[in-house]
Amino acid sequence: MEKKNIDWENLGFGYIQTDKRYVSNFKDGKWDDGALIDDANITMNECAGVLQYAQTVFEGMKAYTTEDGRIVTFRPDLNAARMVDSAKRLEMPVFPEDRFVDAVVQTVKANAAYVPPYGSGATLYIRPYMFGINPVIGVKPADEYQFRVFTTPVGPYFKGGAKPITICVSDFDRAAPHGTGHIKAGLNYAMSLHAIVTAHANGFDENMYLDSATRTKVEETGGANFIFITKDNKVVTPHSNTILPSITRRSIMYVAEHYLGLEVEERDVYFDEVKDFAECGLCGTAAVISPVGKVVDHGKEICFPSGMEKMGPITQKLYDTLTGIQMGHIEAPEGWLKVIE
Ligand code: PLP
Ligand code: COI
Repeated sequence: MEKKNIDWENLGFGYIQTDKRYVSNFKDGKWDDGALIDDANITMNECAGVLQYAQTVFEGMKAYTTEDGRIVTFRPDLNAARMVDSAKRLEMPVFPEDRFVDAVVQTVKANAAYVPPYGSGATLYIRPYMFGINPVIGVKPADEYQFRVFTTPVGPYFKGGAKPITICVSDFDRAAPHGTGHIKAGLNYAMSLHAIVTAHANGFDENMYLDSATRTKVEETGGANFIFITKDNKVVTPHSNTILPSITRRSIMYVAEHYLGLEVEERDVYFDEVKDFAECGLCGTAAVISPVGKVVDHGKEICFPSGMEKMGPITQKLYDTLTGIQMGHIEAPEGWLKVIE
């Protein structure tokens, strides 16, 4: 299979249309068989549930080319399970987990020419999503849904790749207690847009959201969880019911403990203790592990000792081990890699 003529090394995190996408429709209480199609556009009624009341959930994952030339995805079963949780919270029908993984495999296979080569620094981002498609005007769940998967080749989420970023403590809240912060619903991202545009306008790369109930604890950013490294090399990550249970973060905590022999803690992280950490990073499918050099809280700067030039040493070890597993040159725990071809 010949790869597409794309400048892989210089890709940003943007949308490039690929050849095939997977579609399955839910009607009369059941999902149809699903198929790969060519048309990247969707036609729907003006009153579709997704357009009126934002009834949509999604996932994000990546396909990688390994050193020995295989195409793999990373823990797609966990994305399938998380989409079940997201769908249930928004009163949507569940797309069966085995079918989710199969749809991802089919879509990646059909777009194999767009999976960036090993060593290019780029990956194929996979976006499964689902939305209410029939007309809905009273506030209620739709009766008909569409599940789709498309792919797009991407580079680093933050410009500058592995260079540390600067983030600010947001004045806006991301998620309410007992709200939808723990699921991957489009509505969580719509309401973060004003906050991210404001952060960018003020010269910051991202927002640090605090818990909206007390505004004392670190939650996450708009699109990634936090990891912190203590001065005695413990890996600490916030525990919260209002953040997205990141698959990358769960994998990093496992890798820290079982591959690197580090102590790990998932617990409340108070903003007041952030100044005492040695390193900070954002983790997620898109973010991978993006180092944070500085946190600014209304003019007060917290500068991590790891600095603004490169990742801190423990973050680097976590990054190398995680990406080594994803790219196939470090042995993965059983079941973490799904080989596509
Ligand atoms: N937190 C938010 C709000 C996200 O959008 C994402 C991205 O998916 C993550 C965390 C990271 O999750 P994962 O590692 O499963 O991609
Ligand atoms: C991902 O990491 O997959 C996400 O969905 C985050 C998004 C902000 C791109």
